[in-house]
Amino acid sequence: MQNIQSYIKEHKDRFINELIELLKIPSVSADSAYKNDVLTTAQAVKVRLEQAGCDTVEICPTQGHPIVYGEKIIDKNLPTILVYGHYDVQPPDPINLWDSPPFEPVIKKTDIHPEGAIFARGACDDKGQMYMHVKAMEFMTATNQLPCNVKFMIEGEEEIGSANLATFVKANHDKLKNDVILISDTGMIANNVPSITTGLRGLSYVEVEVTGPNRDLHSGLYGGAVANPINVMAKMIASLHDENNHITVPGFYDKVEELSAIERAEMAKAPFSLDAYKKALNIDAVYGEADYTTNERNSIRPTLDVNGIWGGYTGEGAKTVIASKAYAKISMRLVPHQDWEEITELFKTHFESIAPKGVTVKVSPHHGGQGYVTPIDSIGYQAASNAYQDTFGTKPIPQRSGGSIPIVSLFEQELKSKTILMGFGLDSDAIHSPNEHFGVFNYLKGIETIPLFYKYFTELSK
Ligand code: BES
Ligand code: MN
Ligand code: MN
Repeated sequence: MQNIQSYIKEHKDRFINELIELLKIPSVSADSAYKNDVLTTAQAVKVRLEQAGCDTVEICPTQGHPIVYGEKIIDKNLPTILVYGHYDVQPPDPINLWDSPPFEPVIKKTDIHPEGAIFARGACDDKGQMYMHVKAMEFMTATNQLPCNVKFMIEGEEEIGSANLATFVKANHDKLKNDVILISDTGMIANNVPSITTGLRGLSYVEVEVTGPNRDLHSGLYGGAVANPINVMAKMIASLHDENNHITVPGFYDKVEELSAIERAEMAKAPFSLDAYKKALNIDAVYGEADYTTNERNSIRPTLDVNGIWGGYTGEGAKTVIASKAYAKISMRLVPHQDWEEITELFKTHFESIAPKGVTVKVSPHHGGQGYVTPIDSIGYQAASNAYQDTFGTKPIPQRSGGSIPIVSLFEQELKSKTILMGFGLDSDAIHSPNEHFGVFNYLKGIETIPLFYKYFTELSK
């Protein structure tokens, strides 16, 4: 029977080319101008799942972009793995900062990826990582080595909050019944330091609008005499952190889990170079909450960040004006136990309360989700750990991530199953950024490791 290494060697070029074809379709979920491309991508994913050996594959319509669902049930008495991924991508802008067009994939070598990396929007997040599962499935069915049942649920709205997937999951408990959920939509520490993600942060995303006078005003005639919404909003936002970079929203930290000194010491053992970190970002210092390390700040601590801010005149040259309105988009990354809806309420109440007289404030929640942690003594974690041990030759390190996949906690709540996050991306892969890429090594390593997860999970379930 053929093993996975020789199968990859034989089919490597095709695996890469198939991914490149998928990356050419601009499946930007946030922008309705791409609606047809999103649908075309769903149809392409359906065909690929059929070719990979699924028995039934369907496109499930939703109120938004469709979900692609496929399965192969070989024996009801065997365990079932539910694979989740997303075929939608982030908008590509700012386009002018890309070295090559975002939907014309190219392979280039980099310092971190000497074997080459595929540059395109979605290469890592998440088409490339999702497609590793399709190719792993192809290997297992083509060589008669699928050890258990498998279900695929690939959605098209992850980057916009998965609202319709939540409805779908709630309505389809039986269809989606599984023993473990497997996702590759996160990262690992380095190509020679494999890690498995054991935690995700929650998220509350809000938009604020500060209104002053009922129209834009001449900044000479009125300046100094009325509240300037942009000045005021800047001051309000600045007050959301104190001198230690703690968030000042009352009640914000009430439910935050404080890790024990032992756990923090464990975390600190993961290899990390502050110098390399600063160098990669071209910054002379890191910045953040007092008394926490960089890796703690970006994983086990909650944050509040402005993601976008606008108002007034931003065109060429100068225009003397006091705008009527100022806006900002603010995200709060949350840690397990913080409830995103509660935090959204706390933020709203606080932000409204600090508005000075002379302006009105509107806070509109966008979307959110709970954080997630998974234990490392589960069968699923052990199976993943064994799989990485075999393919990387070293035991993977458990690591909590700072990113969010809100649907994961909903899976646990609705389907009562744990998720294993086998991500093969690197933080330097520039997801959501210009020049997003995914290492060819990482892509093929993922395809190699996934079938071993199936094997170990099935064995350990006996
Ligand atoms: N795949 C990412 C999340 C991620 C990336 C987690 C790397 C851990 C490591 C996902 O597609 C994403 O971007 N999620 C959003 C939240 C979503 C509600 C828009 C995020 O984290 O900003
Ligand atoms: Mn993703
Ligand atoms: Mn993303």
